[in-house]
Amino acid sequence: MSQAPHHIAIVMDGNGRWANKRLMPRLAGHRQGMESLRQCIRACVQRGVAVLTVFAFSSENWRRPADEVSGLMDLLATALGKEVAQLRKDGVQLHFVGERTGLSEKICAGLAQAESATAQGNRLVLNICFNYGGRWDVAQAATKLCASGQAITEASLASSMAMAHVPDPDLIIRTGGEMRLSNFLLWQAAYAELYFSERLWPDFDDAELDRAIAAFSGRERRFGQTSSQLLHPKDAGKSS
Ligand code: FPP
Repeated sequence: MSQAPHHIAIVMDGNGRWANKRLMPRLAGHRQGMESLRQCIRACVQRGVAVLTVFAFSSENWRRPADEVSGLMDLLATALGKEVAQLRKDGVQLHFVGERTGLSEKICAGLAQAESATAQGNRLVLNICFNYGGRWDVAQAATKLCASGQAITEASLASSMAMAHVPDPDLIIRTGGEMRLSNFLLWQAAYAELYFSERLWPDFDDAELDRAIAAFSGRERRFGQTSSQLLHPKDAGKSS
């Protein structure tokens, strides 16, 4: 089996289409998407992935029909009640990344409680991006720095981001066949390898995860250097 990336991030797209194909309400697709997420978390723990970040609700998803938005909020509230004890047993450390303003007091309390209940988890850091947007993250980091009078540099911005507790993603997977980032991890995606899967998120399984990991393992990550510098690190900086 290929060596797993340290940090995998996923845009879980395709729940609505999965439901439409079965003449079911979109929310049924999101519920099935929750099943896929549960399995994906288990698979990442088994494969030694250290960090998994998933996009569950974007800053722009408020524009969806009101019943879908409230259904997604209910799904989150139910998950907080049902899943946290098992995640804690499995050694998962939960973080909710995104703007809390706009979320109900009950949900905010549930998020904080889930984070503190799982804070000792040491097998997998799971970031659930909820009410999150990459542009929001850059703006909130810059606002914090300005308010404290600090200079805006790459390093100060990076350490003020909502994802500063983890290294940048190595591999970003998007399911559902679309090839865009949709405001996900814009800053952190700088050197991530991208993998686009035709699978709709509810159909994403261990085999597709392994295909993404295998594709990642076959890529050469140069971080701005040349192939020959990577092969001969002592020559780095010399031109030939
Ligand atoms: C995008 O698919 C998916 C979402 C906006 C929601 C993702 C949520 C889950 C996978 C369930 C887990 C939820 C929580 C709260 C942890 P889409 O609806 O845009 O699909 P489409 O492109 O086929 O319409």
